[in-house]
Amino acid sequence: MKNTPHAEHSVQFSLEWTAALACFVVAGITGTAFRLAAAGFEPLSGLNLGYVRNAHSHLMLFSWATPPLMILMAQRLALKSTQGGAKNFRARTFRRIIRAAIMIGVLTFVPFLISGYTSTKIGPISLPLTIIFSTLGMFVWYAFSLAYWRAREGLARDSVWRLWDWANAFLCLSTLGAWARGAFIGMKVTDARLTHGSIQFFVITFSFGWLTLGMLGEFHRRRNTQPGRAADLGTALLAAGIPLIFISAQTAQIPSILSACGHLSALAVGVGLSLHLYTLRESGGIRWRNPSIIALIFVAGAMLISAVPPILNWANTTGLRLIFVHLLLLGVVTMGLLEVYPRATPIKARGLMPAAILILLATMLPTTGLWPRALYTPWTFYFVALGSTAPWLGGTWILMESYRLSAIKEARPSPEQTAR
Ligand code: HEM
Repeated sequence: MKNTPHAEHSVQFSLEWTAALACFVVAGITGTAFRLAAAGFEPLSGLNLGYVRNAHSHLMLFSWATPPLMILMAQRLALKSTQGGAKNFRARTFRRIIRAAIMIGVLTFVPFLISGYTSTKIGPISLPLTIIFSTLGMFVWYAFSLAYWRAREGLARDSVWRLWDWANAFLCLSTLGAWARGAFIGMKVTDARLTHGSIQFFVITFSFGWLTLGMLGEFHRRRNTQPGRAADLGTALLAAGIPLIFISAQTAQIPSILSACGHLSALAVGVGLSLHLYTLRESGGIRWRNPSIIALIFVAGAMLISAVPPILNWANTTGLRLIFVHLLLLGVVTMGLLEVYPRATPIKARGLMPAAILILLATMLPTTGLWPRALYTPWTFYFVALGSTAPWLGGTWILMESYRLSAIKEARPSPEQTAR
């Protein structure tokens, strides 16, 4: 593609969006397979649940949530390049990086299903494919951040860039957790506080630092919010709290000073998110048709509540963490991304997605300690599996509808054709 200003402005990334959404559907089906296998569904009894969880979470994080966020950043840079800024923006570079990010997630999927983090056997040879591809994936992220910083150079720092700068910094920082995990394996460290803690650091810093700050930036972009003290203070609190929240997710015994850091970081993140929500409300209000922002209100509330020590311990031991993870990654991130899904707009399909997400979250209750013992029946976990189908069925519908609508659009003669 020639890098004329006009070409940059019309950077569409439709194919990449479709590929990412298709990955969401496949990863969602894998989540349902996990649920069915856990419920004792005989045909899936051979599945290793740990491997299935890894395959699901990597495809969701690598190929679904991350590439569309990269696209949104690239598109704003493209727009700035047409206005005389972002002089180093190259659409082709961003497109290649985004495609590589999707591909790497896809490549890790089958090896994760077959062998998790252990070596995968291909005929006579055995290779640590998932480790190789995941490491490659991290280099693709570094390449993205580098391209972002180069293109971003010289642009005035508004609320959106400020959040996206931090998001990119956290994207790179989160990988420290993955490198540390590798180092611990090499050094044969078995202390769960370190091995588990390094993975928690990666997943939590990635989810909050990269995905949530990235989506917050996107929410401000949509509303064209003006920079202000509340948003700046919110961003500073988030940046200070995010690297330490992983401590609050620890269930193992940790020194009380560390535990206090965990609670304080949850408080900083809760207040930081609330200040951003306040700014978003001031610049356009929050309505029911903004389901991703409504989900963010619940996330902010949960962070504030979890800053209270006994509540956090109770939530961790009751198994509420998984519901919280999906409230954030499905409710805020996925819903926020689908709100700008660019293909021909399947309004009805998109409108049902919040209900689908709500069904998934509600049917996760029996997997927590909140579900009364008396209500467990042999069918309870099949009910959980059934509820888990709702979001990926919604995703499939959006894909099919957008394909149908684009086909109709393409089949319709253009005004020039009818004039001729
Ligand atoms: C389409 C709907 C989804 C379904 C049916 C689903 C289902 C599941 C299931 C069954 C698990 C394993 C639960 C367990 O360990 O007991 C899981 C874990 C996980 N999911 Fe999802 N999920 C969905 C959407 C997402 C999305 C959109 C993301 C991220 C963008 C995501 C990220 C994760 C992560 C990171 C974990 C691992 C959590 C942990 O153990 O720390 N999921 N999901």
